Amino acid sequence: MTPFDTGAPVTLPAHVAFVGLPGSGKSTVGRQLARRLGWTFLDTDHVIEQRMGLSIREFFEREGEAPFRDLEQSVIDELTLETSGCVLSTGGGAVLRPANRARLLDRSYAIYLHSTPEDVFRRLRHDQNRPLLQVADPLARLRDLYSLRDPLYRESARFVVETGRPSVSALVQLIAGQLESAGLVQVPRG
Ligand code: S3P
Repeated sequence: MTPFDTGAPVTLPAHVAFVGLPGSGKSTVGRQLARRLGWTFLDTDHVIEQRMGLSIREFFEREGEAPFRDLEQSVIDELTLETSGCVLSTGGGAVLRPANRARLLDRSYAIYLHSTPEDVFRRLRHDQNRPLLQVADPLARLRDLYSLRDPLYRESARFVVETGRPSVSALVQLIAGQLESAGLVQVPRG
């Protein structure tokens, strides 16, 4: 794990938010971390799907990307205001809007789950739910997304965690330990 301290203050109880490319493990790691901490887990994409009564893919097909980004921004604004501890998983494009980057940095303790485009491609090559990857050359698309977004993920996050080798439970253990040593959480024992 590489400390990536931006110096912005965190007010407890902190929200932990995950940012990173689609398929970097934000929801899987986020859900398990929340369980480990006894916190609530929220996923911005699921909240959007519940509110719209549509899958993200259907929403993109019917409305296009811009209305999705508007809704995503208002959901991030709302969810980062939650007062009790929660772990938030954000969509891979959430960091595109400066307002979202500011919310994540100011109101959350954001962690960038760093994956290479090649790793993500291996994990997602059969996925049909991610509208941005339904293209002739998804690996090229992932490489483009990575070049654009990697600096934005780093700008939004306080820690960068490499997802390459460790198992999900090892990543959760690592992150929980890091949050605890930063004085942000008390990890229940046992
Ligand atoms: C997107 C990622 C998706 C979802 C939407 C757009 C993106 O979330 O928000 O399809 O722009 O990368 P995941 O990162 O959970 O796949």
